[in-house]
Amino acid sequence: MTRTVIRGGLVVTAAEELAADVLIEGEQVVALAASGSSAAESWTADRVIDAAGHYVIPGGVDAHTHMELPFGGTSASDTFETGTRAAAWGGTTTIVDFAVQSVGASLRDGLDAWHAKAQGNCAIDYGFHMILGDVTEGSLKEMDLLVGEGVTSFKLFMAYPGVFYSDDGKILRAMQRGADNGGLIMMHAENGIAIDVLVAQALAAGKTDPRFHGEVRHELLEAEATHRAIRLAQVAGAPLYVVHVSAASALAELVTARDQGLNVFGETCPQYLFLSTDNLAERGADGFEGAKYVCSTPLRPREHQAQLWRGLRTNDLQVVSTDHCPFCFTGQKELGRGDFSKIPNGLPGVENRMDLLHQAVLDGHISRRRWIEIACATPARMFGLYPRKGTIAPGSDADLVVYDPAAVHTVSAATHHMNVDYSAYEGRRLTGRARTVLSRGTVVVDGDSYLGRPGHGRYQPRATCQYLI
Ligand code: URP
Ligand code: ZN
Ligand code: ZN
Repeated sequence: MTRTVIRGGLVVTAAEELAADVLIEGEQVVALAASGSSAAESWTADRVIDAAGHYVIPGGVDAHTHMELPFGGTSASDTFETGTRAAAWGGTTTIVDFAVQSVGASLRDGLDAWHAKAQGNCAIDYGFHMILGDVTEGSLKEMDLLVGEGVTSFKLFMAYPGVFYSDDGKILRAMQRGADNGGLIMMHAENGIAIDVLVAQALAAGKTDPRFHGEVRHELLEAEATHRAIRLAQVAGAPLYVVHVSAASALAELVTARDQGLNVFGETCPQYLFLSTDNLAERGADGFEGAKYVCSTPLRPREHQAQLWRGLRTNDLQVVSTDHCPFCFTGQKELGRGDFSKIPNGLPGVENRMDLLHQAVLDGHISRRRWIEIACATPARMFGLYPRKGTIAPGSDADLVVYDPAAVHTVSAATHHMNVDYSAYEGRRLTGRARTVLSRGTVVVDGDSYLGRPGHGRYQPRATCQYLI
């Protein structure tokens, strides 16, 4: 079994920061000891990784990705192979992607299809949530089986009528089932029925540009749906995790519920923290640049960002995931020229999340430990992967990043590794970058070299939520 020591770094976890060496045997961390201590000096190793001047952090856990997702008449442009490779470059070593149950199909069919896409292709470890696209007697029963297989979270949609949408009765029934079997309900909280009315009215009025995507998906329709989801979960006695929270008023609903002691959790994404409706309104050379920023929930006016940062500091928001769902500008986003409602929804970001959040540390939004908490530890706890993932401790998987906090780089589609022809953060200067990335003890990224391979990443069956009050 290969013994590796990472020497001389500042180990940063959600719980502590310590100048420590880390001993790895095979795929796992087996010990930490103060750098320079007799214990650390006594370790023999096959390989020594010098981390002086660097942080040693747990690999990122991105709990919201959509590799190869069929959506809007096309498919997300990152495959499991390209998307997990890009994740590794960015210091993320676990993703939890969304398998999809289509209307008329079983959960089993959907899950098997997603296993087939991922198996043998991933550079890093992966798990699955299940999108409940068709809540029926049969699929409710199947939820129990999936929980037993480590698929312990289920996404429901109050948006996208005719695609993924569930009405309140179906949502309540899925929540009741989740309350019984331990499955965590994840909610896309937007009032899709009302949004569709506003979409039709906007298009009829000739409002076809990308920026109208943001206007029709009104923040109050996110807040209303968030409120409704919370109360339905309360009636069902189920915990609730609201995905991609973008609006301050939706966050206020979470704050109220949490103040009432409810098991209600919220995730936001880098795009809502760093981008805004200003981007959606970009016209570029052909008036269509804003399409690059079409996602749902939509980008909001800049004023919302301060509230989201505050929510992250106060733990009213617990997780930052990417909702990585890339579509190329050429040929994919372009499907919506002349009709914003046909622009496939989603942004790339799996490679950028750890660095954007480190920049937020430098900019004073969050502390260094909070960075690790919202990007590694809490997503692992929320989705039943902790302490295998999300921390650095004896017994944890050796998913580790030697992170250079002083490396300055400029984000660009010309240099990123995601399979998408633009970057939502093009030209942004960031300080901090993963230097060496280990996935279960194997070095997959070292400086400018990619050493990983498709198939190294393993499916991770998950326990139920470990974060309940
Ligand atoms: O725009 C987004 N978020 N696309 C992916 C699907 C979803 O709703 O998460
Ligand atoms: Zn969603
Ligand atoms: Zn999503």
